[in-house]
Amino acid sequence: MNYYVLILRLFHIVPGVFWVGSALMLTLFLSPSIRATAPEGGKVMGHLVLKTDFTRAMSAAAGLVVLSGILLYLHDLSSFGGASWITAGPGLGFLIGGVFALAGFGFGIGTGNLSKKVSLLGVEIAKAGGPPSPEQGAEMAKLQATLGKIGNYNVICLTIAILMMSMSRYLVF
Ligand code: HEM
Repeated sequence: MNYYVLILRLFHIVPGVFWVGSALMLTLFLSPSIRATAPEGGKVMGHLVLKTDFTRAMSAAAGLVVLSGILLYLHDLSSFGGASWITAGPGLGFLIGGVFALAGFGFGIGTGNLSKKVSLLGVEIAKAGGPPSPEQGAEMAKLQATLGKIGNYNVICLTIAILMMSMSRYLVF
């Protein structure tokens, strides 16, 4: 039994389910619901981002997936024929999936930072009482537009990554 690969796969697939599942849920369902129920919805976002360990849990899960993925790739590379494996179906498929996952990791960091800014601005507006000033309103709209864009890039990259991870082992060429 190959305990090294077994353990790496556990540290790869289990946090991968959490990372990608949470990113999809957040971008496709939770964020639109929060926007639709503003300003009350903003409180939920603020609590999630500023008062829970959600962002830390996402970063830890994503970091584990990327690290174990790179180690698995290096293991497979040396076990299945080196350079020729990279240009064959599985080697190329896992590589393409890995690159999209890394891009998703980068967009995920951007999403986390922007969510924090949106939440902090929401807290500032709530503390002042009354409606946001024109500057605050403009800043919030700008941050949310960028957040929406980066969030979409994030889920596109992660979706391509999981498609490639699911299929690559069985790609024959
Ligand atoms: C979105 C993040 C990711 C998810 C959800 C994910 C998921 C998975 C899953 C479910 C498998 C099992 C596929 C199978 O056994 O046929 C797998 C395998 C693999 N993944 Fe990923 N992965 C991700 C990111 C990465 C990254 C960044 C790399 C780095 C290149 C990578 C490299 C690999 C490799 C080499 C395998 C084959 C492992 C083996 O030979 O047992 N993955 N991945």
